[in-house]
Amino acid sequence: MQIKGKVVLVTGANRGLGKQFAKSLVEAGAAKVYAAARDPGSVKIEGVEAIRLDVANPADVAAAAERYTDVQVLINNAGATLRGDLIDPASTQGVRELFEVNVIGPLTLTQAFAPILKRNGGGAVVNVLSVLSWVALPSGGAYSVSKSAAWAVTNVQRQELREQGTLVVAVHPGYIDTDMTAGVNAPKTTPEHVVREVLQAIEKDQEEVLVDDTGRSVKESLSTASPLYLTGIPR
Ligand SMILES: NC(=O)c1ccc[n+]([C@@H]2O[C@H](COP(=O)([O-])OP(=O)(O)OC[C@H]3O[C@@H](n4cnc5c(N)ncnc54)[C@H](OP(=O)(O)O)[C@@H]3O)[C@@H](O)[C@H]2O)c1
Repeated sequence: MQIKGKVVLVTGANRGLGKQFAKSLVEAGAAKVYAAARDPGSVKIEGVEAIRLDVANPADVAAAAERYTDVQVLINNAGATLRGDLIDPASTQGVRELFEVNVIGPLTLTQAFAPILKRNGGGAVVNVLSVLSWVALPSGGAYSVSKSAAWAVTNVQRQELREQGTLVVAVHPGYIDTDMTAGVNAPKTTPEHVVREVLQAIEKDQEEVLVDDTGRSVKESLSTASPLYLTGIPR
């Protein structure tokens, strides 16, 4: 599917990876880019239409689907993270809140936009997941739980939307250099690289995107006798 000439909606487009998506989509010749953010005033990107969308707010999701009926590509990028031990009962509320943003948000957006994508020719949904859909890091358990669930949702959506011709793409990055990893001292991929790989994947009708060595080595390990979800990622 060509990006050029398409109408695309990106969630969490005011900063980080989402901002890069919006900028690169304009450069790639998208006909229109809806740059969605909780605060549309925080979107500072040339050539986009800033719109208000809190992905965890069902009324916002419904209003977006009512208004933006020309969307052909939905990029579920908005996400949040949380530190803390999952074994601590005090973490449960945080898990619930993270689920609203990382799982229920993209799920309900895809539900709301699926008929629109169908009417507009099939199009594509991109779910920005993580290598942590497949492995867990200590002290980041809630995030892994949410990204694993979002991967399961993605796999169901692939089957449910195939018949209407909607491509469902999952992206599984390791660390990306954004605010989310500001306190992390480890190799990071640039947002530009991640977005380039995703846009190429859409153009090639590719359903899964691995953007770095971490993603590739974790994926490779899954069918071995020592998968990295058992041993942990080497540091
Ligand atoms: N950075 C990494 O290492 C990494 C690795 C793998 C996957 N990812 C995933 O990549 C995606 C983008 O993350 P990032 O690295 O760009 O993180 P980021 O710099 O922290 O940006 C997060 C974005 O999500 C938005 N957001 C959070 N909650 C929202 C909500 N309820 N409704 C709408 N927008 C909301 C934020 O908006 P506000 O400005 O309003 O908070 C912000 O635009 C996420 O799904 C993340 O899980 C990131």
